[in-house]
Amino acid sequence: MRAVAALFLLGALVPPCLSQQRDPFAWLYSPRGHGFLRADSNGGECPEECDCPPTFPVAMYCDGRGLTAMPSIPSRMKYLYLQNNAIAAIPDSAMVNTTNLVWLLLHHNQLTSDAIGEQAFAKMQGLDRLYLQHNNLTRIPQNLPGSLRDLRLNHNSIQKVIPAELDRMENLTILYLHDNAVTDVGTSLKGLKSLILLDISGNHLKTVPQGLPEELHQLYLESNSIDSLPENFLAGVPQLQYIRMAHNQLTDKGIPQNTFNVTGLVELDLSFNKLERIPLVSVTLQHLYLQANQIKEFTLGSFCNVVDVSSFSKLQTLRLDGNEISARDVPAESAHCLRQASTIEF
Ligand SMILES: *[C@@H]1O[C@H](CO)[C@@H](O)[C@H](O)[C@H]1NC(C)=O
Ligand SMILES: *[C@@H]1O[C@H](CO)[C@@H](O)[C@H](O)[C@H]1NC(C)=O
Ligand SMILES: *[C@@H]1O[C@H](CO)[C@@H](O)[C@H](O)[C@H]1NC(C)=O
Ligand SMILES: *[C@@H]1O[C@H](CO)[C@@H](O)[C@H](O)[C@H]1NC(C)=O
Repeated sequence: MRAVAALFLLGALVPPCLSQQRDPFAWLYSPRGHGFLRADSNGGECPEECDCPPTFPVAMYCDGRGLTAMPSIPSRMKYLYLQNNAIAAIPDSAMVNTTNLVWLLLHHNQLTSDAIGEQAFAKMQGLDRLYLQHNNLTRIPQNLPGSLRDLRLNHNSIQKVIPAELDRMENLTILYLHDNAVTDVGTSLKGLKSLILLDISGNHLKTVPQGLPEELHQLYLESNSIDSLPENFLAGVPQLQYIRMAHNQLTDKGIPQNTFNVTGLVELDLSFNKLERIPLVSVTLQHLYLQANQIKEFTLGSFCNVVDVSSFSKLQTLRLDGNEISARDVPAESAHCLRQASTIEF
């Protein structure tokens, strides 16, 4: 997980110009000094309020400049940085030249859903990243391109997700919807055939989303109001490795017996819930977080059915602090079952 996150992060932070060893666009400009940047006949045109580095003329940097409206966008642009401004609207007319965009970064602005044109994003047939986090959106924009791989909508005020909005996104791998006001996603996620990471924590969900995408590796649902899990809800997600459900309302009754007895899971975070028992988990699980529940008993059977040379728990981390048990409640034979545990906290 750390490696994956670091990769995403790197991708997000390194501007394309720096990640390029040799500049493939060097032919687009000549060493004629800086003045030619504005309205250059070689296609180096750049709006006054932005920077278009001669070393990477398909990128336009307009971030953090107090903009309240969209600048004009030369049609050669592929990477557009508009974050950290006060842009309040994206009319369709502002996006006539955007057919070549690959990255469109619009996070930390003042966008509301009603101020985004219905066709604003529709022309971007090769758009890979769309960052709209930290705006004032109340719904997912319409007609998003099916080419998107990374869509960030966290920290808005989105209440509902309807299937039509995420339709066609067969290549979407990352979807950030955390810190919104989502009460229900219905079956919207079903068609996201490539989705690997779904973060929908910090919303108002009462149940886990139905029809989780089958390639999902990481599911983040913490800080919602989920009190129970449907029978076999992990049956359709064989690749799932990380489940984070801290800060919900889960009780023992709400978790069907074999829910987490599935191979493949690496990390399960059920901390800050209302569990009184340790749920049954697969012997392949490596990290289990149960701190701040109401657990009163150490049930070895939750980790090991039988213990012998070849069958024992792979658990490395177990957190039980903030419960109603102590290290004295752990039976001696646990040492055989939990032989790989390097951290057990009470
Ligand atoms: C579209 O591109 C043309 C030519 O680069 C430019 O003059 C015009 O201002 C652009 N329009 C918008 C809305 O960005
Ligand atoms: C967006 O939300 C912020 C914080 O809630 C608020 O201060 C601002 O006025 C809102 N802007 C618009 C355009 O609604
Ligand atoms: C998804 O990615 C594949 C491979 O890159 C591409 O051929 C396909 O057109 C993409 N789908 C959409 C809807 O853009
Ligand atoms: C957990 O799953 C394994 C593998 O599917 C199975 O053999 C075992 O009986 C299950 N444990 C319980 C207590 O149901």
